[in-house]
Amino acid sequence: MKEKLASIKQAALAALASPEADVEELRIRFLGKKGELTAVLRGMGALSAEERPVIGQLANEVRAEIEQAISARMAEQKAAAAEARLKAERLDVTMPGKASPVGHIHPLTRVQRELEDIFIGMGFRIVEGPEVEYDYYNFQALNIPENHPARDTQDTFYITDNILLRSQTSPVQVRAMEKIQPPIRIISPGRVYRSDAVDATHSPLFHQLEGLVVDKGITMGDLKGMLETFAKRLFGEQTALRLRPHHFPFTEPSAEVDVSCFVCGGKGCRLCKGEGWIEILGAGMVHPFVLSNCGIDPEVYSGFAFGLGIERIVMTKYGIDDMRHLYENDVRFLEQF
Ligand code: DAH
Repeated sequence: MKEKLASIKQAALAALASPEADVEELRIRFLGKKGELTAVLRGMGALSAEERPVIGQLANEVRAEIEQAISARMAEQKAAAAEARLKAERLDVTMPGKASPVGHIHPLTRVQRELEDIFIGMGFRIVEGPEVEYDYYNFQALNIPENHPARDTQDTFYITDNILLRSQTSPVQVRAMEKIQPPIRIISPGRVYRSDAVDATHSPLFHQLEGLVVDKGITMGDLKGMLETFAKRLFGEQTALRLRPHHFPFTEPSAEVDVSCFVCGGKGCRLCKGEGWIEILGAGMVHPFVLSNCGIDPEVYSGFAFGLGIERIVMTKYGIDDMRHLYENDVRFLEQF
């Protein structure tokens, strides 16, 4: 039995010493309930009374030695694993980093914010209105009754007979005047809709920015001065302004407003199509009919209004020749801004 114990000890220590030793498996094999040492201890009943304590003590010593070897080996393996992990996960902070691509604001949004900044700087505040609008606000209150020819140029999408997707931001004027007493000085940027086929200069969805000023004694001179300041901020100090007589049902008098071409300075070039001028917005003095529709007395107050297409400004500013680029989200296009 002594020899048996000695050979178990030797086998256990040898197995544990192997670099690939599976310590847990060896523990079960040698010390487990069905293990080799346990088997020897079970056989002790057959020993004589003198032999039993001697073998018992020897068996305990062997168990203790194997246990110690097991815990030493476990500690070693744990340390080796930790070491390997440290090596594998080592971070070299001096390595160059991987840059992840970062996007930026869409040119339409950027220009919208730029316009907002300019007008806020002139004392305007931003008011928003609904994109799904009543016929009343989009047309009737703006002096465009049913069957008025101006409706043809602003054909839009109807939800019901009298609810539609707004074809212009002008209805926000009406909503603002119903709510706010003069002095009023607001802009209203946002999406508008028209049932136009898509081409280089048309889209069923586009963006406008509306402006409205109502107070005592507001004149066309105020409109022109304000627009001039605006145009210079947007296109540069050298920019000149030109008002051409026009007709809008909700303003009287009305004008279409051009800026001198900021590329050629008015000589005529590709951007301004040889004109020297670029049309940027429509404007006029708010029609007395519209004022009184909104509960504002035209005998006491007067005002001006203007509306511009944000896409047109973006395209002019950046020399973009096709509006579709603005909606297709082609990164090769967007990256240029
Ligand atoms: N709503 C007009 C349009 O979509 C633009 C416009 C012109 C707005 C003159 C105005 C204005 O407020 O006074 O064509």
